[in-house]
Amino acid sequence: MPVEECAPVTILRIERAVYAVDDIATCARFFEDFGLLPSTASDRVVELTTLTGQVVELRPIDDPDLPAPVEPGNTIREVVWGVDRQESLDALVEDLRRDRTVTVDQNGVAHTVDETGFGLGLAVAAPTEADPTSFATNAYGNVQRWNKGLDPTATVRPLRICHVALNIPKDGREKAIDFYLDRLHFRATDRVLKMGTFMQCEGDDDQHNLLLCHRPDRAGVNHTSYEVRNFDEVIVGGNQMIAAGWQEARRLGRHTVGSNVFRFFHAPCGGRVEYAADMDRVDASYGERVHEETPPHHLWTLRSNREKAEQ
Ligand SMILES: [Fe+2]
Repeated sequence: MPVEECAPVTILRIERAVYAVDDIATCARFFEDFGLLPSTASDRVVELTTLTGQVVELRPIDDPDLPAPVEPGNTIREVVWGVDRQESLDALVEDLRRDRTVTVDQNGVAHTVDETGFGLGLAVAAPTEADPTSFATNAYGNVQRWNKGLDPTATVRPLRICHVALNIPKDGREKAIDFYLDRLHFRATDRVLKMGTFMQCEGDDDQHNLLLCHRPDRAGVNHTSYEVRNFDEVIVGGNQMIAAGWQEARRLGRHTVGSNVFRFFHAPCGGRVEYAADMDRVDASYGERVHEETPPHHLWTLRSNREKAEQ
């Protein structure tokens, strides 16, 4: 049997996040300040990319080609997942067509909606090479950087979109989650019964690439998260956004589930965006962890008593 017939169908990563907004220019400036690279722009569509070639796409709020929004106002309208090869995409589309309409556009990207109504796309992944090299670190007993200081970080540029968090209504949450597990072969890593389910796509090792967060009554965008090279870049990237006039949504901290260092900003495209570093990497031996009680949101957040003194 040819190898291809045995190989698993694999979703590797988030390929594209599509937002529909009422002010494309402001949202484009937001993501440029965040460190994404402008790619293409027209009156109707602006695209910006991560260093590994994933795209944030900004479209007009009244774009007729997008699925209906799940919430009013600026929001995410579609998450396109990158699969390993065309055969995988075809197999996933064939299965999805059992119970929903799937269209394939002129670029070969398949489009449908998930159980909540969020646009869901599938494309063959097109990663670009990025240098993830971080600086060597020094610690007592573990010296890795000799005779060398640190270079200043220029502009922080996210390596990749590492996860998306979407709010889903509490009613029907099992069906919404099972869709990703059963039809798209995601793995549940942490089920926080009172909050939401963290899931990993088949071809990645981050503790989560997708979080479906249940809310009492409504769906919507929660946040998109972008991995940078290290802890310093989470801080410097955040400073870069503050200097550009954007509003921080949380203090710098480190999550409990996933362990990533985070810094969040309110996004004019809807929801928030997150700089992230040092997330847990997990494989099949991690299993599925069920949390009856919700773990604390963070292990720590930055505290200071200097603000008053500095005013
Ligand atoms: Fe996150």
